[in-house]
Amino acid sequence: MLNWDETPATQPATPSTGGAAAPAQDRQHGMADTAMPAPQAAAASVPADTAGRVRAADKRIINGKTDVNQLVPFKYKWAWEKYLATCANHWMPQEINMSRDISLWKNPNGLTEDERRIVKRNLGFFVTADSLAANNIVLGTYRHITAPECRQFLLRQAFEEAIHTHAYQYIVESLDLDESEIFNAYNEVPSIRAKDEFLIPFIDAIADPDFKTGTPEADQKLLKSLIVFACLMEGLFFYVGFTQILALGRQNKMTGAAEQYMYILRDESMHCNFGIDLINTIKLENPHLWTASFREEIRELFKTAVDLEYAYAEDTMPRGVLGLNASMFKSYLRFIANRRCQQIGIEALFPQEENPFPWMAEMIDLKKERNFFETRVIEYQTGGALSWE
Ligand SMILES: [Fe+2]
Ligand SMILES: [Fe+2]
Repeated sequence: MLNWDETPATQPATPSTGGAAAPAQDRQHGMADTAMPAPQAAAASVPADTAGRVRAADKRIINGKTDVNQLVPFKYKWAWEKYLATCANHWMPQEINMSRDISLWKNPNGLTEDERRIVKRNLGFFVTADSLAANNIVLGTYRHITAPECRQFLLRQAFEEAIHTHAYQYIVESLDLDESEIFNAYNEVPSIRAKDEFLIPFIDAIADPDFKTGTPEADQKLLKSLIVFACLMEGLFFYVGFTQILALGRQNKMTGAAEQYMYILRDESMHCNFGIDLINTIKLENPHLWTASFREEIRELFKTAVDLEYAYAEDTMPRGVLGLNASMFKSYLRFIANRRCQQIGIEALFPQEENPFPWMAEMIDLKKERNFFETRVIEYQTGGALSWE
């Protein structure tokens, strides 16, 4: 079997940055390149020039100089494995039967006002949240990541964010909700707006056409954005909403919506884990970025995010409902924030916080959130069906 890690013995192991290869900047951005050397005309008699070939050892997650158009040789196998796992988890919103949800929603006695508020606030946040996540990848993160196996995952992730937006839209349409009210919630509901206003500057910073990595300041800016999206957006801001809808499902209410959310939660867990692996690998490759002041800045962002998500929890359930109340979410958010801190090597913010929702942990938090740096064991699905065991 061909092994791309091996450089032919007769060829010098020259780094791919040298020689007649394409200019690094063009290769980083994957642009069409007319400066590539023409194929050897007399290949049968003259050995091909392999001096400029990509070597796995030369690849870097950021500021790499190797050709981003060449997926192999693999260096970051965890990224490729996660790409394969996400593809094996493929699903589509229309596959889920929403008829029970529709009749429950239309029945005046089907749900309490507090339960309806939870559903509408949930959708109000999520119908735009995954568009923000997708735009952050496509317009921001993607072009700054120079490892093609990581780009491959990001392409899949971007499509999954589109599926999630589709799923939320599908629930809104199925329940015949006021689309304008739900899709404008992120402008009109203060607790949702506050979360988005926290996030948007981190998209804008790296989506700015003039933004380029390559200095410690710029690289820290990118790293900060990756941490905000993986650990705080996908890893924290989604959790009040997921818990609430899954709590409804556990009481046999809105089971179609709950099933959609379970599929989404499975995807988001993978996104969160991929992001954490990406962050930790950037740290390993660029230890100079992980300064004490940078870590302190990250801790402050975590604290702000916990406050914002707690304010959202209070707004979505002014009274106890479904056996849940806002103060339980305070513990839960602190528990999750501690876990995210620990996953990227930051001291826990709220020591000894217990998880008030062990059933959520059973579903997702602990069993499914192992990442490369904790264990190589990744949960795989062989088809699109859900299996939480
Ligand atoms: Fe998503
Ligand atoms: Fe996501």
